[in-house]
Amino acid sequence: MTTTPLITLTFFSFFFFFFSVRLHCSSAQTLVTPVSKDKSTSLYTLSIYVKTPLQLSKLHLDLGSYIPWHDCDRGRYNDSSSYRPVHAKTALCKEMIPRAIGYCYEPAHPGCANNSCGFFPENPVTRESSAGDLIQDKFALLLPGAGKRGQPGPISKLLLSCVSSTIFSKLLRGLAGGSVGLASLGRYNHSLPAQLSTSFSSPQIFSICLPSSSKDPGIDELGRGGVKISSSKPYSELETSVFRALTDAFVKEAGGLNLSLIQPAVEPFKVCYAVDEKQGSGAGDPPFPTIDLVLQGEEVIWRISGSNSMVRVMTKNNVDAWCLGFVDGGDAPRTSIIIGGRQLEDNLLQFDLDSGRLGFSWSLLLRNTSCSNFYVKSTTN
Ligand SMILES: *[C@@H]1O[C@H](CO)[C@@H](O)[C@H](O)[C@H]1NC(C)=O
Ligand SMILES: *[C@@H]1O[C@H](CO)[C@@H](O)[C@H](O)[C@H]1NC(C)=O
Ligand SMILES: *[C@@H]1O[C@H](CO)[C@@H](O)[C@H](O)[C@H]1NC(C)=O
Ligand SMILES: *[C@@H]1O[C@H](CO)[C@@H](O)[C@H](O)[C@H]1NC(C)=O
Ligand SMILES: *[C@@H]1O[C@H](CO)[C@@H](O)[C@H](O)[C@H]1NC(C)=O
Repeated sequence: MTTTPLITLTFFSFFFFFFSVRLHCSSAQTLVTPVSKDKSTSLYTLSIYVKTPLQLSKLHLDLGSYIPWHDCDRGRYNDSSSYRPVHAKTALCKEMIPRAIGYCYEPAHPGCANNSCGFFPENPVTRESSAGDLIQDKFALLLPGAGKRGQPGPISKLLLSCVSSTIFSKLLRGLAGGSVGLASLGRYNHSLPAQLSTSFSSPQIFSICLPSSSKDPGIDELGRGGVKISSSKPYSELETSVFRALTDAFVKEAGGLNLSLIQPAVEPFKVCYAVDEKQGSGAGDPPFPTIDLVLQGEEVIWRISGSNSMVRVMTKNNVDAWCLGFVDGGDAPRTSIIIGGRQLEDNLLQFDLDSGRLGFSWSLLLRNTSCSNFYVKSTTN
């Protein structure tokens, strides 16, 4: 294997701001849920069981949102015998900001009740938001190692915002294909991991492994607990000056590798190289400079090799290229550095909210495995 040059960028440890709640650990049960990559959007979905009888719902996976939401017109949500609207006068409702009181003049169904707690779910891709009614319903994740579809694990209660797609279909636009709602894994009181952690009085630890292939699912191991980086962005977005620093360094390093730069690059990327079949573009790491993200005072390094930094792009006019999979986030983005899905794929990430730590594996491809054949053994500790 040829050694490739290394680019080091030092970043603040921007995703270590975990909200930390200490919970006592009773018997621990690891629960899992499959994560799939949607080919058309390059974004990810996660499947959970909801309703009574339990049914699998595919939800767009977002590491930063506040509360899960579900399109209550799809998947016949109204057949659930266990849903309960959340009343506007409850303490639970009063935590929601902003909130509204819902009225409805149709026969009652999920998302339609009087004096209900209205909460406004947001689409993390488009930032579109809409009206929704809070409900509580039964929900379960899967037990590990129980076959492809998986056996449902212990059932608990889920608070979610119920959205009517007939009126608010705009809300679903831009999400990973096939999703009927949002799985929010953010560091908020009512995110999916937080709700699980509360239900099972368990530590807030969860791991995620995003697949790079749209054929085989990866896995989200919601042991019990939860947090953030952006899985709603297919590629990392860097504030303009950081982006320039990275691309300049990358082009300079790659200059020594006898690669031919394609100009102009294929949008939305800014740096692309022609695919050279001789260099091996099939299995394994494409041979490009390695990027090291240095986190937390130089002690922690996240190494990004070709399989996570580069994106293979084939255009209609026969351009076949490897492009540096980072995009310019503009001069004043909401967040100066967002690590997107491509850079997270095939890395096992573990969020431990109790100690405020993020653990990561580097690419599993370096260990001859991937998120698609990741397998969680049933554990008790
Ligand atoms: C649920 O909604 C569908 C159509 O939207 C309707 O056909 C069905 O009867 C409803 N079920 C219940 C239990 O209300
Ligand atoms: C989150 O939960 C904590 C503890 O239950 C509570 O003190 C806090 O006010 C909640 N935060 C919000 C924004 O509701
Ligand atoms: C809500 O209240 C109005 C007025 O009292 C009533 O007509 C309507 O049927 C109620 N809606 C539901 C869903 O119970
Ligand atoms: C560099 O690339 C050119 C054109 O692709 C090729 O002819 C040449 O042999 C390469 N040089 C080396 C050292 O690989
Ligand atoms: C990696 O995987 C390949 C193909 O499955 C296999 O032939 C090879 O022995 C594996 N190497 C290691 C170190 O496990």
